[in-house]
Amino acid sequence: MALLLYGLGLSAFFIIPIVQPSLASTIHEPRTVLAIEICKKTSNYTFCVESLYADPRTPNADRYTLAYITFGLAYVNATATQDYIAQLLKKKAGHEHDRKQRLRRCQRDYNKAVSSLEAAYNDLNSETFFELADLAGDAARSSKDCQAAFNGTHYHPLGSRNRDLKGLCEICVVVSKLFTGT
Ligand SMILES: *[C@@H]1O[C@H](CO)[C@@H](O)[C@H](O)[C@H]1NC(C)=O
Ligand SMILES: *[C@@H]1O[C@H](CO)[C@@H](O)[C@H](O)[C@H]1NC(C)=O
Ligand SMILES: *[C@@H]1O[C@H](CO)[C@@H](O)[C@H](O)[C@H]1NC(C)=O
Repeated sequence: MALLLYGLGLSAFFIIPIVQPSLASTIHEPRTVLAIEICKKTSNYTFCVESLYADPRTPNADRYTLAYITFGLAYVNATATQDYIAQLLKKKAGHEHDRKQRLRRCQRDYNKAVSSLEAAYNDLNSETFFELADLAGDAARSSKDCQAAFNGTHYHPLGSRNRDLKGLCEICVVVSKLFTGT
């Protein structure tokens, strides 16, 4: 009898894990939803989900982890564009005084964006949250200013990069508000 019960217990033990996955996802849903809730508050849900879910921590991330993820993405993006602008400026192409002027403006913009995002990262590390949204807003403004630098020209070498940074900063602003309740 004891052996039979033991056998039943074992089989129950083995059956439960098979049933478990759907149950488990229900249990974890409130945490998964945080990233989704954030993305619903941005102007481009698809962009937000694609960006955040590029990080494997996102599905289980609390607001702190999400803040590190989003500001980290914006920072990596901004520094990559900073490097790209430096490369573009190094290229010697004859006709290009006007283009260089515009690129230099973008270079200043991206230097500022990187500084703002560095400051945000330091704030996060010291659990200082009140300036985060402003710093993300500053970085977004830098990307807009760079976008405007090429206004009236046919080709914008940084168009998609400016869009990426602006979009990431928008997510940062939404995440920041989770800490300040505004
Ligand atoms: C939203 O983001 C997606 C993915 O990055 C992009 O393909 C699409 O063009 C964006 N939509 C708008 C309206 O910007
Ligand atoms: C910048 O962000 C966009 C949007 O998330 C992403 O597609 C792109 O790969 C990022 N670029 C870098 C260099 O991280
Ligand atoms: C770009 O220029 C047009 C007309 O020249 C103007 O209406 C628009 O506001 C400018 N956009 C930016 C971002 O400066």
